[in-house]
Amino acid sequence: AVKRTPFIAGNWKMNLDHLQSIAFVQKLAWSLSDAKHDFGAVEVAVFPPFTDLRSVQTLVSADKLALGYGAQDVSRHDAGAYTGEVSGAFLAQLDCRYVIVGHSERRSYHGETDEVVGAKALAAVKHRLVPVICVGETAEDLEEHGPSAVPAAQLEAALSGLKSDAEIVVAYEPVWAIGSGQAATPEQAGQVAAALRGVVARVLGEEAAERTRILYGGSVKAANIAAFMREPDVDGALVGGASLDIEEFSSIVRYQK
Ligand code: G3P
Repeated sequence: AVKRTPFIAGNWKMNLDHLQSIAFVQKLAWSLSDAKHDFGAVEVAVFPPFTDLRSVQTLVSADKLALGYGAQDVSRHDAGAYTGEVSGAFLAQLDCRYVIVGHSERRSYHGETDEVVGAKALAAVKHRLVPVICVGETAEDLEEHGPSAVPAAQLEAALSGLKSDAEIVVAYEPVWAIGSGQAATPEQAGQVAAALRGVVARVLGEEAAERTRILYGGSVKAANIAAFMREPDVDGALVGGASLDIEEFSSIVRYQK
């Protein structure tokens, strides 16, 4: 079987301006430079606001930090009259490796449909960015359809335009678990992750399913990360609130199974 490198990602959401991001990344790098953190063993990336990306790029490249980064959204378009949008080409020029697409906050506050999320995933891949495709059910969906039906359908739609060699990351984020302090149980996260891997297999093939990392997101903390990582289909975490606390985020990165 393919070995998937565990991936701990920090979604800062709309927090930390570019000056704060410089101080934060320096402190985070210092905290992670501890000999106990083996970067080959766990990959780490941060997702700051667009206005921070240039500062983060400068720090990461000047100090050769083993820290990945990406944006929280991308336009489905390459360039043109799309006021307020940011092209994947611009993100790639800033050496972003990743971009989040379809976060539930984009879906619910900005009306992003499965079709839009799929187009954004495609735009990301086109610009050699790895889309971190977010899916997840609301509390009502959970009651009505059970845990994996809605996220599986969202993922199927998001993958429909991609080729089997596309590199992607999937993040399962139940909406009811985001910022609520009420994380999913590791068993539930593991079951949905397995179902999502099945979707990747069906749409992009077995090989893609084997290598694709599937993250859990929603109230991940230092205290619960290890239990999630013990689930065979959970390959990492997409962390919101706890990624803004350097000690807490570093402890998440240093989880012990
Ligand atoms: O993208 C990560 C996020 O939505 C989870 O947020 O604050 O529950 O860790 P949080």
